[in-house]
Amino acid sequence: MPFSTRFGIDLGTANTVVCHRGGRIVLNEPSVMAVRADGGNSAPVLIGREARELIGRTPVGLTTVRPIRDGVITDLQSARTFIVAILRRALRQPWERIRPRAAVGVPAGATSLERRALVEAVEEAGVSRVDLVPEPVAGAIGCGIDPLQPRAHMVVDVGGGTAEVSAFCFGGILSTRSCRIAGDEMTMALHHFLRQEHQLVVGELTAEDLKIRLRDATAEGQPLVVEGRDVLTSRPRLITLDPQEVADALRPTVDGIVDALTGCLEDLPPQAVGDIMHEGVIAFGGGSLLAGFEQRLEEEFGFGVQHAQRPLTCVAEGAARVVSMPNVIAAFSGR
Ligand SMILES: Nc1ncnc2c1ncn2[C@@H]1O[C@H](COP(=O)(O)OP(=O)(O)OP(=O)(O)O)[C@@H](O)[C@H]1O
Ligand SMILES: [Mg+2]
Repeated sequence: MPFSTRFGIDLGTANTVVCHRGGRIVLNEPSVMAVRADGGNSAPVLIGREARELIGRTPVGLTTVRPIRDGVITDLQSARTFIVAILRRALRQPWERIRPRAAVGVPAGATSLERRALVEAVEEAGVSRVDLVPEPVAGAIGCGIDPLQPRAHMVVDVGGGTAEVSAFCFGGILSTRSCRIAGDEMTMALHHFLRQEHQLVVGELTAEDLKIRLRDATAEGQPLVVEGRDVLTSRPRLITLDPQEVADALRPTVDGIVDALTGCLEDLPPQAVGDIMHEGVIAFGGGSLLAGFEQRLEEEFGFGVQHAQRPLTCVAEGAARVVSMPNVIAAFSGR
């Protein structure tokens, strides 16, 4: 085959990551674009980080769009516009755009229609050959695991839109469970908590920031300060929160992920459960960084939970390696 650029893509609900075959991350941006409200199919005005800044403060005439929902494409047109824009940014040199080849992460539980929509959108954006790889498998490869080994591995991927728990062995998925309770739901839970318990209204970005700051605040035993608008007076107000109180508000969302893990374990043959008890589970995805997440799983299940070294990029890194692993593509891509 003539020279072609090969790369891996993780099109996530919250973030899109593109990684070159050599392991270099060439793009890592929020999966958000700002488009003209009446713009039809025209190019986005902003994409990524800059577009995300506009969430909750979008001026008239513009609208912010998140083209991926729960890990899959819902609107083919806006997804294609977004993918064209990110590939233009990721593949800067003209020769990189000659017959590029990509492996793209897809939720293990995606339907065939959702898988086809993803392949179509990436091909129409100019990628000449697209292979899909289940995100849990790509993430595991990004962490250095060989999914073709005759040993069972289990991974927990907590993204923005979905949490997926999957076990695989010898090139096949053993069981998989997913739930739509992940990072976005945690953010929403904090939004409701602040409104109900503290009569404070905050924007989505502030609620997300509180969730992210909880990890350091818990480790340092420091209170958390949040600024918002008072429900009754509509005036700006600052409140100080105990980290434990915030963690308690998030507990029910983590319960959903614990249930998914329980279901996935129930579906496994005993020998595979033995492997997992022995080796533990690998956690990745931004939502798995939640304060106390791995401790909670360890308490519930009694096995070790290890964080990926790069929990936000390991799926794209693994996908980039998969492009040159025909055995893995044959085993998992379903084409
Ligand atoms: N330190 C942190 N604590 C808690 N949540 C975090 C932290 N850092 C990032 N997140 C959350 O991680 C989520 C994004 O994770 P990630 O980039 O893995 O999602 P994604 O792959 O885009 O989504 P999906 O896999 O569902 O399609 C966001 O909801 C973000 O708020
Ligand atoms: Mg993801």
